Amino acid sequence: MVDWTHLKELHETVGTRQILAMFDADPNRAETFSAQVGDLRFDYSKTLVDAPVMEALTDLCDQADVAGRRAAMFGGERINETEDRAVLHTALRNLDGGPVISGAIDVMPEVLATLERMRFFSDAVRSGEKAGAGGAFTDIVNIGIGGSDLGPAMAALALAPYHDGPRCHFVSNVDGAHIADTLRGLDPKTTLVIVASKTFTTIETMANARTARAWMEEGGGDPAKQFAALSTAQDKTAAFGINDAHVFGFEDWVGGRYSVWGPIGLSLMLAIGPKGFDAFLRGGQAMDRHFQAAEWHENLPVLLALIGIWHHQICGYPTRAVLPYDQRLARLPAYLQQLEMESNGKSVAMDGSALSVPSGPIVWGEPGTNGQHAFYQLIHQGTGVVPCEFMIAAQGHEPDLAYQHRLLVANCLAQSEALMRGRSLDEARARMADKGLEGAELERQARHRVFPGNRPSTTLVYPLLTPFVFGQIVALYEHRVFVEGIIFGINSYDQWGVELGKELATSLGPVVDGTQSAAGKDGSTAALVDFVHRHGGAA
Ligand code: F6P
Repeated sequence: MVDWTHLKELHETVGTRQILAMFDADPNRAETFSAQVGDLRFDYSKTLVDAPVMEALTDLCDQADVAGRRAAMFGGERINETEDRAVLHTALRNLDGGPVISGAIDVMPEVLATLERMRFFSDAVRSGEKAGAGGAFTDIVNIGIGGSDLGPAMAALALAPYHDGPRCHFVSNVDGAHIADTLRGLDPKTTLVIVASKTFTTIETMANARTARAWMEEGGGDPAKQFAALSTAQDKTAAFGINDAHVFGFEDWVGGRYSVWGPIGLSLMLAIGPKGFDAFLRGGQAMDRHFQAAEWHENLPVLLALIGIWHHQICGYPTRAVLPYDQRLARLPAYLQQLEMESNGKSVAMDGSALSVPSGPIVWGEPGTNGQHAFYQLIHQGTGVVPCEFMIAAQGHEPDLAYQHRLLVANCLAQSEALMRGRSLDEARARMADKGLEGAELERQARHRVFPGNRPSTTLVYPLLTPFVFGQIVALYEHRVFVEGIIFGINSYDQWGVELGKELATSLGPVVDGTQSAAGKDGSTAALVDFVHRHGGAA
């Protein structure tokens, strides 16, 4: 257990300072409180941290033995203790590293063999050598949910400029609207359906997979040729009728929300090709090496974790906004919601005792500049503080639209500056006076135009969102969440909190379809079921 006392004491004094004044006092502040790995630069100077705070924060890493836990993870120890599993998603991107031993077995030969099979399959699909009943595949539908959807869906959108394969679609929700809207307009004879499910039991995914199979059969497609599966449960993929040659397996040491690097990333590989996918893996591997080697104060995942801890556990800000100024990172906030909130949204430490500090924060966000015209009002003038994490590429993929990219950059930098700088009452009064207002009306109007400022933000900047850079960014966030979890003393790799709802949904199924009475359910649930039945929702 780490000791938070010193940091809380520091907060008492540092918390009363002004970020802008810290820049005036230290001309080197931007350099001192930035770190760079390869082409990624993380600037955390627009926060209230100073050297003593950073020292106290990095001390948490030593107290919690981040180095030891990190070595245990990369070394294949069963650090996911509540599920008794190793955590080795890093092996999936260990392209030219050495052996990775788990349970006395080197997992790398199997990992590399599966990767090679994926490449072979992708090349065959992309070239048309492997085709559907109606010819070369035009479309791919990835059916999965949670980690079996968010990772590949986010990645496929992020790397859209590199797509040169079939079109990719993603279906996750059990709401029939999702699959109906996706399949409408696709050709059942030239669509490849990928059923992505680690367990191959997830209700949403299996329901959508059965719907897709029926659609394909009715439309003259051939599920034997046009279905593939990504799963740890090959007995179940066979029982579903999926051709073994189209099944790509992985081990239980790959957590769902960490699985985009292996078979669950097949849709991405089909879209951008094996070379692009390799570059993505190499970006992740580069971040692994950095995370393992860099000193705490230069270690990007550690720094992101510590700044997050400073804002949430010490300053008490309840949420964190992720604001990519990159339309193609539109799904990143949703991906990070699962990564952070499923990993660190817990109340007990590894040993079962209650946590002494709040667990991970609520993570939310939207791409800029859209958010500016929606919720930034609250971020600038609301009563609460929302630490913002901005992200921006130096250049876009549209050289003809470089002017628009410059506007995007200017907006991103303007927001972090505005949050820090704010606008005082006197400045607001001067503006109102310029507009000809005076007296009580000037005073009243000026108050609405005050920005408190001193609101913290960080900025991650990169040259261009290539597959390599994107791989670095995803691995950066994975390790950040791991470091946060170590410092809280929790197991970031289980997710027992999703179980109860699943169990109750299963038991409510017969009540909703009318084959079982609602007796024994609470009054609210029974009344809601009754409403559904009276309005045409019964079987
Ligand atoms: O319900 C949570 C969860 O278990 C996630 O952790 C996981 O990513 C998702 O469901 C999907 O699981 P599966 O890949 O086994 O279908």
